[in-house]
Amino acid sequence: MIYLDNHATTRVHPEVVEAMMPFFGEQFHNPSSGYRAGRSVKKAIAEARGEVAELIGAKEEEIVFTGCGTESNNMVLKSLARIYGRKSSTVITGVIEHSAVLRPVQAMEDVGFRVKRCGVDVEGRLRVAEFREVCEAAETGFASVMWANNETGVIQPVVGLCEVAREHGIAFHTDAIQAVGKTRVDVREVPVDFLSISGHKFHAPKGIGALYLREGVRFEPLIRGGGQEGGRRSGTENVPYIVGLGKAAELARKALEKDAHAGIAANRDHLEQRLVAEIDGVVLNGSRDHRVPTCAHVSFEGCEGAGLLILLDEAGVQVSTGSACMTGKQQPSHVQKAMGISDEQAKSSLRISLSQFTTREEIDEAVERIKKAVKKFRSVQGGSGVGPVVVYP
Ligand SMILES: Cc1ncc(COP(=O)(O)O)c(C=O)c1O
Repeated sequence: MIYLDNHATTRVHPEVVEAMMPFFGEQFHNPSSGYRAGRSVKKAIAEARGEVAELIGAKEEEIVFTGCGTESNNMVLKSLARIYGRKSSTVITGVIEHSAVLRPVQAMEDVGFRVKRCGVDVEGRLRVAEFREVCEAAETGFASVMWANNETGVIQPVVGLCEVAREHGIAFHTDAIQAVGKTRVDVREVPVDFLSISGHKFHAPKGIGALYLREGVRFEPLIRGGGQEGGRRSGTENVPYIVGLGKAAELARKALEKDAHAGIAANRDHLEQRLVAEIDGVVLNGSRDHRVPTCAHVSFEGCEGAGLLILLDEAGVQVSTGSACMTGKQQPSHVQKAMGISDEQAKSSLRISLSQFTTREEIDEAVERIKKAVKKFRSVQGGSGVGPVVVYP
């Protein structure tokens, strides 16, 4: 099987598994226990925190471990909502956010918050000028804009947005879940106040995340209890997973330092070049210059993404449709709609996402199988490109 769905989740790195194992066995102790074994587990958590902090250029005490990326986003957004209140504040976000930001923001709007959603250009990047206008008009409030989009991999102009937010006294959160570990993210260079991380997007397991809180920012905990994580997220620590996240962060930092991600980008570019050269009616979506190295978002004229996904699965290639599949029916996603991509083109797209484990041989083999799947789909379709004739489960 050729796995090309790394924006959905990544394979856990064998060194991460190895690092986690002792904490399911011998080192099972509660990190709050005062005896030596407890203290040694506590030290392992501190080391993991140090690694996560180093990956993004933060201080150790600015990192809070969470249960997942969705939790990180909800924690910060709900805290900001409580701090700013709904009377005079504005919540500013982008139209292409993940549901882990869209939904909590929607819930705020439902209870009376003023919400402004900024649009994107054809390349899928937020319009800074529009963001500036919204900030200027807002009395006070907070903003949440993602670092890299999960569907297209397009990197947002976060530096510019942060600076505008700062000028206007607007607190700034970024969902960096598809960026951390894939591209350089450094909070010393980008003045975000809050940043969300998820382990399973860069070779740690699912169910572990982190939240960066810049020193001095105001924060209201969502989960209160025993005071773990400096009182910012109570609950006995998920030690093996925290250790796993620390190991994944260390591996990602070393890979980024060696520019190992250039190899992933080279494989992605090779994939795109071959698809464009060898299949008619292929369109590459999203910015070419501002994107993480792991993602290709491709439309195949006259095909339906959901159908191609099934044909490719049968042929041993795992990818995602380029747009969300709602109630079993392929719908153009909110991201593609926002980019002005036609419904037809959106529905015919695939998200093909790579990792450090993807080889050139796999890419070449995947291209051959995609060529066959597209040919098969188009022959069944009769080349008209209108109306699906294949029935999908
Ligand atoms: C941009 C983005 N935000 C948030 C999430 C949610 O992260 P988690 O699965 O860790 O809850 C994802 C996962 O797909 C994502 O891609």
